[in-house]
Amino acid sequence: MSESTSLLQFIQTCPSPFHAAETIACRLRESGYEELLESASWDLKKGGSYFVRRNGSSLISFRIPVQKPTGFLMSAAHSDSPTFKIKANPERSGAQYVSLETEPYGGALLSTWFDRPLTVAGRVLIQETNRIVSRLVFIDRDLLVIPSVAIHMNNTANDGTKILANVDTIPLYGTSDARDTFLKQIADAAGTDPEHILSYDLSLFCRQHGCHIGYADSFILSPKLDDLECVYGCLEGYLQAEPTSSIPVLCVFDNEEVGSGTIQGAGSTFLRDLLRRISLCLEMNEQDHQRLLSGSFLVSADNAHAKHPNHPEYSDANNCPYMNEGIVIKMAASQSYTTDGISSAVFRRICSDAGVPVQVFANRSDKRGGSTLGRIADTMVPVSTLDIGLAQLAMHSAVETAGAKDVEYLVRGMRAFYSSTLHRDSEHNWAF
Ligand code: CO
Repeated sequence: MSESTSLLQFIQTCPSPFHAAETIACRLRESGYEELLESASWDLKKGGSYFVRRNGSSLISFRIPVQKPTGFLMSAAHSDSPTFKIKANPERSGAQYVSLETEPYGGALLSTWFDRPLTVAGRVLIQETNRIVSRLVFIDRDLLVIPSVAIHMNNTANDGTKILANVDTIPLYGTSDARDTFLKQIADAAGTDPEHILSYDLSLFCRQHGCHIGYADSFILSPKLDDLECVYGCLEGYLQAEPTSSIPVLCVFDNEEVGSGTIQGAGSTFLRDLLRRISLCLEMNEQDHQRLLSGSFLVSADNAHAKHPNHPEYSDANNCPYMNEGIVIKMAASQSYTTDGISSAVFRRICSDAGVPVQVFANRSDKRGGSTLGRIADTMVPVSTLDIGLAQLAMHSAVETAGAKDVEYLVRGMRAFYSSTLHRDSEHNWAF
């Protein structure tokens, strides 16, 4: 199976960040990884493989080398995508219709969510006798639609229409007979009764299945390519890598789309706490840990904007990536992307040795552009970092378009990164 087909299947198993973390956890367990709880005492073994989840929606995995570690080789991508969260009192009922109360999560391109089959996924918190348990929920059927207004009723709809989240993007759930049934649906999917549901974290998922599109199937069209494409590429590269004297670390963070400032986001202490704890378990002192960090490297992987075929003017003339032309190194003078000359040189060298093409992205100089995980994580874990991604169109649309070849480039690039003997030499230069 091609990497792009495998990616599209992976995305279907990740309708929410909680499901993404669970899918990755299953994949890791199948490969012999052991789950550690932050609340338990850890006994890390040389040659051991582990992972930790926080909030059920962020996950960090690592392996302990057999020899003395020389640094952490890390990647970070995000498990969340723009969507709509279901509010605590979910039903908005009129005489004939029942709709669901939602609010936008992240910066979605709202117009793209209309007239598509949608459903609900996330977790519910269930009351048991003397404890509260969390259970994943995914209603695996076409359940909801956000209907457009017909052009006959709003004949200026094509002339730039403002979309109000409290009015226009409320999804339709049913006719009057659907009243007071939504919680029952959720309870059925969770295998419990509505009265046992204490609360939930549920959001919409676009049920349009990913597909190949274009002449010679050159492109993929799917929900959540930002950033599950990078999650998939980093995960596969991490799993396929050869062991070295580095500690390979794979990070998948939730809440990037709302600024990363949660206890499980890239702005939290999750990664910093975990790295320190690994060092402590390996009986290193603070100086050893600081030395290890100075020899560490982080690849922050989040998709990049390809030059748009109809709107090339939004891209920089020369520093713009194209789909199917390789991994994108993202740079910004503002340092909203962390890449600098050194981290770029290191990653270019690794990719060139592996025969993986790279290209660059910079914002058009009068545009601010986006930010991502790297800079936020760096404030907690000061290590050499670069920002990369894969070129895609329509970022934050309900369905996005990317190059079918690029995910394989990312898998190969990350495999080469994690297999590399990258370290600092005695003069503090990066060496292989
Ligand atoms: Co992203």
